[in-house]
Amino acid sequence: MSQQKTAEFDDLLKEDRSFPPPAEFARTAHVHDPAVYAQADRDPEAFWAAFAAELDWSRPWTRVLDWQPPHAQWFVGGQLNASVNCVDRHARGARRNKAAIIWEGEPGDTRTLTYFDLYREVSQFANVLKSLGVRKGDRVALYLPLIPELAIAMLACARIGAVHNVIFGGFSAESLRDRINDAQATLLVTADGGYRRGQIVPLKQVADEALQETPSIRHVVIVQRGDRSIPVHVMEGRDHWYHRLMQEASAKCDPEPMDAEDLLYILYTSGTTGKPKGIMHTTGGYLTGTYATTKLVFDLKDEDVYWCTADIGWVTGHSYVVYGPLANGATVLMYEGAPDWPDKDRFWALVEKYGVTIFYTAPTAIRAFMRWGTEWTARHDLSTLRLIGSVGEPINPEAWVWYYRVIGGERCPVVDTWWQTETGAIMITPLPGITTLRPGSASRPFPGITAEIRNERGETLEGAGGGLLVLTRPWPAMLRGIYGDPDRYVRQYWNRWGTDVYVTGDGAKRDADGNFWLLGRVDDVLNVAGHRIGTMEVESALVDHPSVAEAAVVGRAHEIKGQAIAAFVTLKEGQQPSKACADELKAHVAHKIGAIARPEDILFAADLPKTRSGKIMRRLLRDIAEGKALGDTTTLADPSVVARLKSQYEGQEG
Ligand code: WTA
Repeated sequence: MSQQKTAEFDDLLKEDRSFPPPAEFARTAHVHDPAVYAQADRDPEAFWAAFAAELDWSRPWTRVLDWQPPHAQWFVGGQLNASVNCVDRHARGARRNKAAIIWEGEPGDTRTLTYFDLYREVSQFANVLKSLGVRKGDRVALYLPLIPELAIAMLACARIGAVHNVIFGGFSAESLRDRINDAQATLLVTADGGYRRGQIVPLKQVADEALQETPSIRHVVIVQRGDRSIPVHVMEGRDHWYHRLMQEASAKCDPEPMDAEDLLYILYTSGTTGKPKGIMHTTGGYLTGTYATTKLVFDLKDEDVYWCTADIGWVTGHSYVVYGPLANGATVLMYEGAPDWPDKDRFWALVEKYGVTIFYTAPTAIRAFMRWGTEWTARHDLSTLRLIGSVGEPINPEAWVWYYRVIGGERCPVVDTWWQTETGAIMITPLPGITTLRPGSASRPFPGITAEIRNERGETLEGAGGGLLVLTRPWPAMLRGIYGDPDRYVRQYWNRWGTDVYVTGDGAKRDADGNFWLLGRVDDVLNVAGHRIGTMEVESALVDHPSVAEAAVVGRAHEIKGQAIAAFVTLKEGQQPSKACADELKAHVAHKIGAIARPEDILFAADLPKTRSGKIMRRLLRDIAEGKALGDTTTLADPSVVARLKSQYEGQEG
């Protein structure tokens, strides 16, 4: 654990405010008895099976768990279909006319789909996919803005047993290409464009660039999102308009019965190498995990209007915009655009307009709201809210308390939820009807989950203390592997202290009351505004530029984004450092990966600090980027390098 993180944590521990569950909330909550923890602990399989049994299965399972570390199979022998569970079972019952999705576009256009509407559209698009030759097990890439068609396409894939691979609409052509090729997707669904801060993001144009090097793609379906003003190139025979295909498609499509362990989707996420990993999630366990956590963590009820602000391009959108809430038959609000468009009160206008009751967002957004000030929140009636949540990065106590007071009106429990793309569902979280909240702590593992803190030697810490966070029991929504790279799955997550210990990559501390305080990544993964980015990915993008000889990337603390990217770059012989060059390198990274990876700072260095064995000392670079005193430099091959860099950096700042 770095010294910096320990210091931050010591500050956290001075945080002694606590907030017991409001009596009124506790009275009606799904979970009001803390005995749930002990029960789940005694028999986790029975705990999870009870939630699985609330889903619709076309064939019951014969065994809850088959655990051959590190490979788990859940609900062995069972068959079900995710689209049936998220759509049909509500559409044929009392929720038939209930709003499933209430959607608002950034320009203000709106749509509402009832469960019956969703049933029709999902079935129709499933037939479209079939008519284009998509079969069970085929991979379908989805590169779309946050529009209902994205959820429809995911569920349509699930209906016919195709594996979706959603690629965030902010990713570049190269990132899209690499993900399509790694998954060997045969069909791509995209759109003419989407809206972001009043601008149009021309997705099909970006996709066209990617499609030049994606030989596996046979067909492209284009959703018309815009007002036809966005130029779109349609390649005869390969490209098809969504609305035309839908007109001809039947609304009857029998769902494919899927084995519980059949692949539901692949989602790429950043790791410690330059190459993102295709995280695999399967049907039965994933649906059980997202269903159970959505119900209990958000205390979801039929009357709720539930809004998770995440983009569906990330795991939070998969689990808590689409699968979890729809499996529960909830009304889900989806909003396409930016929180500050056309003004900084857009989110609060949406909460008021739709009477949102549950609101789930990221700390980076909360810190931005805090900075914008209460003049924006005060314009709207937020009194419908009854629970608010946070996800994606550590939330600092100041932001937590602001969120609790200003957004939650001191009446809404705040659920700070820790989890990962790999875990599929929330792992550490309060249960709002029973947990006494501590600002900055995600409190404790969800029932049935066992988290431990270990030191570098792998010894489990009892009681209070800090170290590396591990999970020591399999759980239904856990990843089943990395697409196309079975060894990496074992090496990456289950290799450090035995094949039954999942290493999260996060540091954490536990206080004397058993609350967990998450401290962020301890590996080479950055978390910038809640987005996971690998240092190696950014470094590869930098050295791809013809002027760059070598690059080292670190995350430095950033007031709003949590972390910002600082890049140390050595230029090739004959290249001169300049502001123009720095800007060009930033643009180059944004073009290669996507705007989320654009470095905040570029620092030109004659040399990078390396150990005698040639490893770049990123820890020292982080200290320099954060303007901190330098720690131990004795292992450096040439200590003067780092001293020079530090004075150069300070000079630049001033
Ligand atoms: C971080 C997002 C502190 C953590 C769901 C994790 C958090 C990474 C929290 C996963 C939280 C997520 N408190 N840190 N409540 N939630 N993280 O895969 O470092 O995009 O490893 O999944 O985000 O990011 P991912």
